[in-house]
Amino acid sequence: MELLSPRPGIGQIKPYRPARPPQDGGAAWVDLSLTVNPLGPGQKALHAYRHAAGQIHRYPDWAQDQLRRAIGQRYDINPHRITCAAGSDEMIHLVTQAFAGPGDEVLCHEHGYRGFMKAIRAAGATPVIAAERDLVVDVEAMIDRANAKTKICFLANPNNPTGTYIPTEAVQRLRAGLPPHTLLVLDSAYADYCRRDNYSDGTEVVENCDNVLMVRTFSKMHGLAGLRVGWAYGPAAVIEAINQARGPFNVSIAAQAAAAAAVLDTEHEEATYAHNSAWLPWLSHELEQVGVRVYPSVCNFILARIPTDPSLGVQAVLDHLARRGILVKPVHDYGLIDCLRITVGREEENRALVAALGEILS
Ligand SMILES: Cc1ncc(COP(=O)(O)O)c(C=O)c1O
Repeated sequence: MELLSPRPGIGQIKPYRPARPPQDGGAAWVDLSLTVNPLGPGQKALHAYRHAAGQIHRYPDWAQDQLRRAIGQRYDINPHRITCAAGSDEMIHLVTQAFAGPGDEVLCHEHGYRGFMKAIRAAGATPVIAAERDLVVDVEAMIDRANAKTKICFLANPNNPTGTYIPTEAVQRLRAGLPPHTLLVLDSAYADYCRRDNYSDGTEVVENCDNVLMVRTFSKMHGLAGLRVGWAYGPAAVIEAINQARGPFNVSIAAQAAAAAAVLDTEHEEATYAHNSAWLPWLSHELEQVGVRVYPSVCNFILARIPTDPSLGVQAVLDHLARRGILVKPVHDYGLIDCLRITVGREEENRALVAALGEILS
């Protein structure tokens, strides 16, 4: 008798490992393990969320009309070429399902966001990993790995957990070097934090091509990680394919309402940006003072390499931080065995982290 078994690929998905212990009973951690907004959501999003409460016996708008129009207004893009999902993770799954399956290859980069791997395996496609150079995406290495079977190329720009980015000119070079049948998916989750002259979220790359999709999230700058909202902007045919793959009610009423308010709340965005601009350099500098190597980040987190000393591994540092009530993210899943990803927190959280690291590293 044949035994029940999931499709090939499902068993190869590495389980998600949260930094927070599951049995902690809601202990008050200083949680710098997930890359969320330390200021929380803005007042406008909160107001819209509360207002939506009276409507939650209804199904949400399947067309996501108000939310798509708000995103279109904020970024000056065509709402008909936008679709939304329950977080950008769902969008990554949807686009992978829509364009890749068994026998197809999907290209990623060495330390690229792990959500890509999960989606590729879940779709039954084969991941192909291009090497990076000093924790930065190597466009030529990616182009070299593309072939007739490559259906999608994922690029997280800036990337999590490295915090590094490649300039728009390099993204254009990547697009030009990939085969035309390969959909380039630009995951711009941290674009709002990266205000560099040579960087863009990819909007104009989408507009100049018929095979580029940009994916964005409300979980970072907009502080709505718990509501699960992400969106994509791309060619009409690609958006249509994603819409065919997605459930009609995938983004809840409350999530659509809060996100529509959040995306137009530029005041909260500026406050968040200012907070990050002040504390990212502070944290980087203070971590270096206690002997940690910090990679330059354009995001709301830092990749920190713990000094290699046989008597003091990353686990000992994690244990010490946990005793002080602080959580950060180990990134051995990314092949970065002696590194931690540390999110920029509120002032008191940043100071507590630096003090605790100083205790164990000095
Ligand atoms: C690069 C990148 N893409 C996508 C996501 C998924 O975000 P969400 O599903 O919350 O929108 C994350 C979350 O950490 C991320 O770092």
